[in-house]
Amino acid sequence: LIGSYGEDKKMPVYVVGGFVRDLLLGLENYDIDIVVEGNGLEFAKYASKQLGAKMVEHEKFLTASLFFKDGFRIDIATARTEYYEKPADLPQVDISTIKKDLYRRDFTINAMAIKLNTKEFGLLYDFFDSRKDLKEGLIRVLHKLSFVEDPTRIIRAVRFEQRFGFKIEEETLRILNETLNGGFLEKVSGQRIRQELEKILEEREPLNAIKRLAQLKILKHIFPKTYFTSVMEKKLENLFNNLRIIKELYKKINVFYSLLRILLEYYDIDTLKKVIKKYGIPKKFIDEIKATETRLPPLLNMIKYKIRFSDIYKVIGKPSAETTAHIMSYIDDEDSKEYFVEYLKRVFSTKLSISGNYLKEKMNVKNSVEIGKVMNELYCRKLDNPSINEEEELKKIL
Ligand code: CTP
Repeated sequence: LIGSYGEDKKMPVYVVGGFVRDLLLGLENYDIDIVVEGNGLEFAKYASKQLGAKMVEHEKFLTASLFFKDGFRIDIATARTEYYEKPADLPQVDISTIKKDLYRRDFTINAMAIKLNTKEFGLLYDFFDSRKDLKEGLIRVLHKLSFVEDPTRIIRAVRFEQRFGFKIEEETLRILNETLNGGFLEKVSGQRIRQELEKILEEREPLNAIKRLAQLKILKHIFPKTYFTSVMEKKLENLFNNLRIIKELYKKINVFYSLLRILLEYYDIDTLKKVIKKYGIPKKFIDEIKATETRLPPLLNMIKYKIRFSDIYKVIGKPSAETTAHIMSYIDDEDSKEYFVEYLKRVFSTKLSISGNYLKEKMNVKNSVEIGKVMNELYCRKLDNPSINEEEELKKIL
């Protein structure tokens, strides 16, 4: 349909990028990127009317997105040449042809197009031997300045390499190192680096990509004070292995924060302050990481020796999902892990039916500090023994 709209508007229309790459690899991909030679916005308006889709325009970039009722989405762009006013800035945009549009992209494997117009429907445009690289499993830039123009591509190269089990091509690796040593990654905003790291965390094997970032010394340029040792690798392995169970318990976890809890452990406060500002992380991150650092050694022992739940509760209370991930990244034996998960389940399921008001009115405890203490004691007893009778137990406490 999109192709026939191209005919109607006399504009060449292509599907490009990741969709074409994955099609040739035989992989599923529902992210459809369309490029139009001519005015992409005008084309998008026409297509959205014909298809009854909602359209959101980004006029500055000459792009638009069409949203369909079933949640399906198509991005439409104008073929463009981008030029960069300063390295690491967002690009300025000029209207152009499909070849130039593809040339400005990150890697050859992402720089193919398939024509959609009825006449040439299905014709593959491969100007840069992309298919050969796809066959040989190579990540290759299209030109020498690719990484300088957009240093986040340094991280993307690793992500695609690890996702497909490819290799970064030799000359590309040389340019990557040169760009890295030129300090270009340091010029990129925290938000853009964060986005790329978050994309890595959505991959099936994020640890492989993180290991590769460390091996290529890219991680050093992102977090200069992080030392990627085998101990850290083990913690990250535990983190990723534990995500499923933590998600079951908490429903939601911020995996990026959880990763940083491990990568930034034992950083000094001043450096931490700079890092959280750069990456847009809330201030309480610092308090949480520091609190966990000091509590970890005793806590791990308590878990190992299966100390009563109430004593563990006095050290860690009801931890956030990220704190749980942090603690569990240190637990290597299954027995301890099981005990800690049991603790968490108990904390989640234990609720008191007696309230502070009951103490005030029926038991004549008036002081609110005192009420808090008594309630906490009652809660701890119920953690250790869920079948207690709260009224009876209360009498014992008082
Ligand atoms: N692109 C680029 N440089 C970047 C980001 C993106 O050249 N820094 C281009 C690539 O050609 C890519 C397209 O924009 O194919 C779309 O980007 P994105 O959706 O991020 O990547 P995909 O290739 O679709 O990868 P994924 O499968 O992870 O969605």
